[in-house]
Amino acid sequence: MHINENFAKLPGSYLFSEIARRVAAYSGEHPEADLIRLGIGDVTLPLAPAVLEAMHKAVDEQGKAETFRGYGPEQGWPFLREAMAKYDFQARGVDIVPEEIFISDGAKSDCGNIVDLFQSGNKVAVCDPVYPVYVDSNAMAGRAGDYDADTGRWTGLLYMPCTAENGFSPRIPKEKADLIYLCFPNNPTGGVAGREVLQAWVDYANDCGAIILFDAAYEAFITQPEIPHSIFEIPGAKTCAIEFRSFSKTAGFTGTRCAATIIPKELVRDGMSLRDMWNRRQCTKFNGAPYIVQRGAEATYTEEGRKQVMENIAYYLRNAGTIREGLAAAGLTVSGGVDSPYVWVKTPDGVDSWSFFDTLLREANVVTTPGAGFGPSGEGYIRLTGFGGAEATKQAVERIRKIL
Ligand code: MLT
Repeated sequence: MHINENFAKLPGSYLFSEIARRVAAYSGEHPEADLIRLGIGDVTLPLAPAVLEAMHKAVDEQGKAETFRGYGPEQGWPFLREAMAKYDFQARGVDIVPEEIFISDGAKSDCGNIVDLFQSGNKVAVCDPVYPVYVDSNAMAGRAGDYDADTGRWTGLLYMPCTAENGFSPRIPKEKADLIYLCFPNNPTGGVAGREVLQAWVDYANDCGAIILFDAAYEAFITQPEIPHSIFEIPGAKTCAIEFRSFSKTAGFTGTRCAATIIPKELVRDGMSLRDMWNRRQCTKFNGAPYIVQRGAEATYTEEGRKQVMENIAYYLRNAGTIREGLAAAGLTVSGGVDSPYVWVKTPDGVDSWSFFDTLLREANVVTTPGAGFGPSGEGYIRLTGFGGAEATKQAVERIRKIL
């Protein structure tokens, strides 16, 4: 018997678990501390009334023999796949059909599980800084080489630095990549990618046969009308991309759990349809997201539901604006927070990320996320989220300004 030795290579703990551990330790020492949590991107507003109503109705259906439902389709109930195809794609002129949409219990799980479809020899390119799930899940699958503690990088991954110098936009690598993770609006920098930038990625991937794994979890936060919400708005993307979507940040489902992975029928490699492979994987390893939850997600596409979830998004974006403007006025260099709930803040006087995180925790009682936790190019930054309460966010900015 041999365990998967790749787990032994993983450094420390998962970023947000480590933050939770440090915050719990501090709270244990200082139970009186009134902490404001702007660390993990977790929503705080309750579910929209239209979602609740749909879920209550679905609960009642589950209580009657005539309407009770057991196992649903592993790919998701048709009503939700159809609504998503119609409103998220076809309404934006994108020809995605329900059969290409797979409903799941989270974009995090899908991003982690998608590695099942690819051989271990593939070269994986990730942004730096990056959502740690892409890196860790490839490391667990033995596709990242070894972790080099000196550089903070995995020897087998191709890193694409996203720095102030390149406007936090990854450059297309010179070396050939097989799998490319892109996330726009970006977690953690809050940057977005315009049509031309995405077209260049799609052209690159089609030219060399690479696959883009596009995380669109934050698309609902886009405010600039010219910014694409989906990689499939880009001509040629259907032959080279897989997209992840989520109701977590869009509709407050972080605790409710519902998401989707979109794989076009045209995406074929080595004579195999990736859509069919994912279907096979899901049928074997997944029994579908709960019916009640999918009914709640469906309600976000009604006129009333859409209006309500967009009001919540506007609220979070106002918070992001409060952080962005407040910290800029205090003399810090900030970016993001316009088409994204995340604000990316340069630490003052070259202080390292974890030290600034600790200072903010201890002296301002504000929880943030240290940029270095997202990769070496995140060193010297912290991330704050707009997902807190409006008053708490204003207070957090005030507290940070006071200690600067
Ligand atoms: C984050 O804070 O980056 C996100 O909440 C993590 C996630 O969505 O899993």
